[in-house]
Amino acid sequence: MTTATREKIQGAYSTGADEYDQVRLEDARGRMLSEHDQRIFASLFPRSQGDMNVVEIGAGTGRFTVLALERGFSLTATDINQEMLDLLTSKAASMNAADRCQVQIQDAFNLTLEKSHYDYVFSLHVIPRFLTVEDQQAAIKSIASLVKPGGRFLFNYRNRKSFYNLLYKGPAATPGQIRQALEASGMHIETRRGKWLVNKRLLLRLPVFVGRVVIAIDAMLLRFWPDRSWDVFVVAVKDR
Ligand SMILES: C[S@@+](CC[C@H](N)C(=O)[O-])C[C@H]1O[C@@H](n2cnc3c(N)ncnc32)[C@H](O)[C@@H]1O
Repeated sequence: MTTATREKIQGAYSTGADEYDQVRLEDARGRMLSEHDQRIFASLFPRSQGDMNVVEIGAGTGRFTVLALERGFSLTATDINQEMLDLLTSKAASMNAADRCQVQIQDAFNLTLEKSHYDYVFSLHVIPRFLTVEDQQAAIKSIASLVKPGGRFLFNYRNRKSFYNLLYKGPAATPGQIRQALEASGMHIETRRGKWLVNKRLLLRLPVFVGRVVIAIDAMLLRFWPDRSWDVFVVAVKDR
């Protein structure tokens, strides 16, 4: 990834953690979208920790971190931006879970965490933010290096083979490109869930009650034909 690209993305998230939460957690449509994502996360994330080492990359203000904490997990939550992590820390504290949530600055492309150490690694709405498919593949490989044999990696990507991609101007990877990056990291896909229709650009144009109907339909479609859906959530396993 070029330095310019990295700085651009970092800059986009370096201020406004409060605003980030307003858009996703306080605005009615943003909350609908977020809750949909959180339900997918909840259906894929393990129910209990056992003795797993868990780390999150690009945790932001912690909308998925808090779900892991609610399930009783202890984890390390990382991000490239301190302001995001400060807000995440205050959320963990308000749940009396600060002692279960270690917070660290980490760059997904230059991780200083222990390689092949983690049983569960998750990173949501981070990989699709990188500006080329090559960067997205590089991020997958870098994050996958943390996973120990038999461990899992949960992430999402935007699918170039989806119908919605006809309207999408940003960088999107094909399922084949994602599989390639995982295979190069000694990983294979275990589970996929596809978000078909739900995204901010669409929901912003719809009245909230219509948005709710769209979300309900989307929830029914999650398990079907992920190779054609717009936002694909993947759980990959590291080969032993
Ligand atoms: C769209 S937000 C997602 C945050 C959180 N996972 C969520 O879904 O609410 C993207 C996050 O990735 C972080 N980020 C951007 N570039 C990064 C990098 N190179 N390494 C780690 N995190 C990065 C941003 O600071 C931001 O918090």
